[in-house]
Amino acid sequence: MVMVTYISGSIFNQTQFHYPTLTDNISLKILLFCFVFLFSSVTASYSGNTPIRNQSGLSIKETFNLYVKAVQNSNLEGLFTTVTDSDDFFFLTANGKLIDRKGYYDFHKEWFKERDWEMPVELLKVRQGNEYGYTNAIFHYRSKTPEGKTYLLDSYFTLIFHKENGMWKVVADVCTPIGRYLTDDGDEIRYDWQQVYLFDMIKKRRTVRKFKSNPVPREHILKILDAARYAPTAGNQQPWKFLVIQDKRKLSKLKDEAVQWYIESYKNEKQPNRKELENTGKAIKNKLNDILSAPVYIAVLVDSKAEYPEYVMYDGTLAAGYLMIEARSLGYGTGFFTTFFPEKNMKLFFGIPDRYKLICFTPIGIPEHWPDTPHKKSLEEIVVFESF
Ligand SMILES: Cc1cc2nc3c(=O)[nH]c(=O)nc-3n(C[C@H](O)[C@H](O)[C@H](O)COP(=O)(O)O)c2cc1C
Repeated sequence: MVMVTYISGSIFNQTQFHYPTLTDNISLKILLFCFVFLFSSVTASYSGNTPIRNQSGLSIKETFNLYVKAVQNSNLEGLFTTVTDSDDFFFLTANGKLIDRKGYYDFHKEWFKERDWEMPVELLKVRQGNEYGYTNAIFHYRSKTPEGKTYLLDSYFTLIFHKENGMWKVVADVCTPIGRYLTDDGDEIRYDWQQVYLFDMIKKRRTVRKFKSNPVPREHILKILDAARYAPTAGNQQPWKFLVIQDKRKLSKLKDEAVQWYIESYKNEKQPNRKELENTGKAIKNKLNDILSAPVYIAVLVDSKAEYPEYVMYDGTLAAGYLMIEARSLGYGTGFFTTFFPEKNMKLFFGIPDRYKLICFTPIGIPEHWPDTPHKKSLEEIVVFESF
């Protein structure tokens, strides 16, 4: 109010029509007072709430503090008293999405529904010009994940302010992410999103036994095998060969043969009657139909004539593990299949030289659905520090 009077007064005094007399002066002052009062009331009723009236004359820093407090308290109305009324307003999200004023409102309506989050803010810089200014700050968002971990998101926020009717208003809000972290419960160590991604891929790898027919691009096949060749090996001997099978006719023939291989071994081991044999044959056929439904298969082989032959099975198994995690990160399911694919038969079927040993036969494909994680033993069950 005081500031408005001063500004209006100085403008008025610049008029050059005549030098006012004393009575002129008194009536002018009354007139001026009425004008200022009317102006303030109109502004207040236009903005429609009390905080705005109190904000007139606030600096950018003070307006910024109101803005932050509103965000911290999930106060949508409070937030919007600091934001421009103009439709030119924009908000650039951390994902690079440009949102208008209405979208900003909806965004915060959703955001504020979340509970139990904190957002300490570090104000780094304030610049206040005549018409425009900006603040630069880091917002540290923290919340709990459903698994009980703490999720931390640090972002730079650049707010651009414009003076509207004598008040500073936020006209643009640009969010730039700095880092995302997770901490284990009660743990002080932060993990960044790349680390968390790797942990996730390892935990989300699954043995998949039924696939969609979507093709796997050659680039993906090579990427997966490229990861496999980085597995450790005894003396760095790298005794691997990866046989890639994509030919549908070959896979269909393998299916028929694998049913026979299984039935033969079943007959020898169990001596079943005709009915049992028929039922087992049907069940195995169905199982192999699913297991061999992927568009790509890789036979992981190791050379028994490598420098350290007693270690080639370890080397091959590690390569298979690497391959499976890389495939998972590209969205594919795999499987360390051995049972239906006996080494002797597979070597004959694919013409694999005798010196190679078969580690496993793994599919690569988009799962029909991702299976649930089977029971995994807890750390307490399997970890012993220092001694038993
Ligand atoms: C040495 C080894 C042999 C396996 N053989 C087969 C197999 O013949 N058929 C099969 O369906 N799964 C086979 N698996 C996959 C396991 O059944 C599977 O890894 C386990 O059930 C855990 O499930 P997950 O891989 O989804 O964590 C084998 C795994 C390993 C490590």
